Amino acid sequence: MTVTREALERAPSLVLSPAVVAHRGASGHRPEHTLDAYRTAIRMGVDDIELDLVSTRDGVLVARHDLELSATTDVAGRTEFAHLLRTLVVDGEEQHGWFVQDFTLHDLKTLATRERMPGTRPGNTAYDGAEGIPTLTEVLAMVGAESIRRGRPVGVLLELKHATHHDALGLPLDVPLLRELSRQGLDHPWARVVLMSFEAAVLRRLAGRTRLPIVQLLDVGDELTPEALDGIDEYADGIGPHTSLVLPRDRTGAIGEPSCLVRDAHRRGLTVHVWTVRGENRFLPTNLRHGPAPDALGDMTTMVRELLAAGVDGVITDHPEAALAAVRESAHVGS
Ligand code: G3P
Ligand code: CA
Repeated sequence: MTVTREALERAPSLVLSPAVVAHRGASGHRPEHTLDAYRTAIRMGVDDIELDLVSTRDGVLVARHDLELSATTDVAGRTEFAHLLRTLVVDGEEQHGWFVQDFTLHDLKTLATRERMPGTRPGNTAYDGAEGIPTLTEVLAMVGAESIRRGRPVGVLLELKHATHHDALGLPLDVPLLRELSRQGLDHPWARVVLMSFEAAVLRRLAGRTRLPIVQLLDVGDELTPEALDGIDEYADGIGPHTSLVLPRDRTGAIGEPSCLVRDAHRRGLTVHVWTVRGENRFLPTNLRHGPAPDALGDMTTMVRELLAAGVDGVITDHPEAALAAVRESAHVGS
C-alpha cells in the first residue's frame, strides 16, 4: 500500500506466507465491506484485506459483493429509490431488487450499510446504518494511511465481480481499476495489491496490462486438471480455491486428507489462497463443529491448522482473529 520505499525496506518481508486475509473486512464482527470492517481487521493484525468491486452507473468502483443492494443496505425502505426496483439477469441468474449499476455514485452514497446475516451475526447489527458504501478510492486511501500509521504494509486483494456483465453494460471494471491504482501509485509489483476474479477473460486482459499479481478464483465444480492449471499458469500468479477443493468433505460433511491441489499449484509456481473460512458451525466441516447450534462458533482454528498443514499460502476469512492464532501457533511450532 502507500508506504514509502524506506518504510517498505524496513518491513520484515513482502512475501508473507501464510497470509491472513480479511474477507470483506472482519465481516464476522462488522457489516461486510464497511471501512469499520476493514479497520477492525487491520487492528487485529491481518496481512491483507479482501475487497469485492462493482461499478455504479457513472463508472465508479465501489465495495460490494452483490450488484443487488437490499441484502446489505437500507435501500428497500428508501421511497425515493422505489422506481429503481426491477428484475435483472446477472450472469444467467434472475434477481429482483435494486442494483448498483442503476445508481449514480451520488445516490448510492445516501444508502446506509447493514449486516447481511443478522440471524447468524446479531452483534453486527449494532453497526447497521453507521456507514455508507465505500468507494475503491476511499478504501485504498484508508489502507495506505493505516499502513503508514502502523508502520507495516497492509495489502489489498481486489476481486472484480461480474466482469463480463459490466463489459456488456459499457462499464468495464478493469479500466477504472487500473486508472485508480495508477493514480494512487499502486501499479507496481511491490504495492501489495493483488487482482482476482472468477472470470478468466478479465484476468487475461489484465495480465497484459499490469505487473500486479493475478489470482484465478476457483469454485466447487471448476476444472482442476493438469491442463486447466497449465492454462491458468499462462496468465495468473496464483489460484484462489474454495476450501473444499483443498480439504474435501466426505458424505457426512467432515474433512479428512487434503487433495493434491496445493502440490499441483506449487509445482507450477502458483500460490494458493483459500476462501472462505468462517467461524460459525454452519460453515465449518461437521467434525469441527461445537455443539448443535448452527450459529455458535466452532473450531475454526483447527480448520486453519489443517489448511496450513496442506500448504496453503493464504487464508481468506471472516474471523481473522482465529486464523491469526493458528498462523502464530504454526510459526511457533516451526521455529
Ligand atoms: O476471495 C475470494 C472470495 O471472496 C470469493 O468468494 O463470493 O465471497 O466473493 P465471494
Ligand atoms: Ca470476494
